[in-house]
Amino acid sequence: MRAIVYDRYGSPEVLESRLLPSPQPGPGEVLLSVRAAALNPKDSLIRKGKFRRMTGDRFPRQLGFDVAGVVHALGPGVTRFRPGDEVFGMKHGWAGGTVAEEVCLSLDELALKPKRLSFEEAAAVPLAGLTALQALRDEGRLTTGQRVILHGASGGVGVFATQVARLLGAQVTTTSSARNVALCLQLGAHEAWDYTEKTGLAKGSNWDVFFDVFGNRGFGEVRGALSSKGTYVSTVPSVTIAVQHLATHLTSKRARLVVVKPNPVDLELLAKWCDEGKLKPVLDRVFPFTEVAEAQALIETRRARGKVIIRVG
Ligand SMILES: NC(=O)c1ccc[n+]([C@@H]2O[C@H](COP(=O)([O-])OP(=O)(O)OC[C@H]3O[C@@H](n4cnc5c(N)ncnc54)[C@H](OP(=O)(O)O)[C@@H]3O)[C@@H](O)[C@H]2O)c1
Repeated sequence: MRAIVYDRYGSPEVLESRLLPSPQPGPGEVLLSVRAAALNPKDSLIRKGKFRRMTGDRFPRQLGFDVAGVVHALGPGVTRFRPGDEVFGMKHGWAGGTVAEEVCLSLDELALKPKRLSFEEAAAVPLAGLTALQALRDEGRLTTGQRVILHGASGGVGVFATQVARLLGAQVTTTSSARNVALCLQLGAHEAWDYTEKTGLAKGSNWDVFFDVFGNRGFGEVRGALSSKGTYVSTVPSVTIAVQHLATHLTSKRARLVVVKPNPVDLELLAKWCDEGKLKPVLDRVFPFTEVAEAQALIETRRARGKVIIRVG
């Protein structure tokens, strides 16, 4: 089977298409024929070697965490799916490998694909949609009637966060550049601000949740704009946020880091919302398999609107 691989860390030019042996599903795993994969900033950061401590120096490495495809074969003990089922999901950890004709996922990384979505649309959902859900519901504990601001609301995670915040019943304000204000309103924001004019940081703004989706605002900067029991949620791991996370565990204003984890229950909830027409993926561009380097270059501009997709099968 053909896969996108690289033999050293570096720029998108290190990527190449190569024939690899078909993966064999182990116990509790499913082999998929991949139809579409989505890219995330994580793929680029790994390819550049930014997580080398976790990813090590063993090559070749494969690319991609998000996938939508068709079940091709089942590993020992798998009864939840049958060959021919259309599924979507995200690989956990650091190995990736969804930008390939075939990939194995474990049962806790998969759910049935939303019927209403194409494979390209379904591939857009898992990593970014789960991040939005887990950041707002689990870390932010966002509930009906609360005020949330989503900083950087027009990218991969942000377009889901806007819709998920509305589905959780919140009063939603977004920030984006001026060109994406209309998109944020269309996705359900009650107010959409251009971040070059308004940042949401004014003292006394009383945000119940400040979700720093883009990741360039610190808890220290945001604290004064939170309500008395408000929560700041970041997407970007750092020593500072880890310390703040621990230090604010029992304080009234809290700092949290979201670390997305796949699980079938959350994937099924996202799929249900998609099938009900309540959650819609936004695709910036769909690239053919042969243009993965161009697709990664688009992500690396940090200006993608919604998700960047690779069509595989
Ligand atoms: N911790 C986790 O589990 C986890 C999971 C997923 C993602 N992440 C991280 O979360 C971050 C966001 O991910 P993503 O997929 O949404 O990224 P993305 O798709 O690359 O984000 C692009 C968006 O960022 C906006 N943006 C650019 N410059 C900005 C600025 N100065 N201020 C505010 N917004 C700005 C852009 O909007 P405009 O074009 O309108 O400027 C664009 O729509 C990344 O750092 C990613 O690595 C973490």
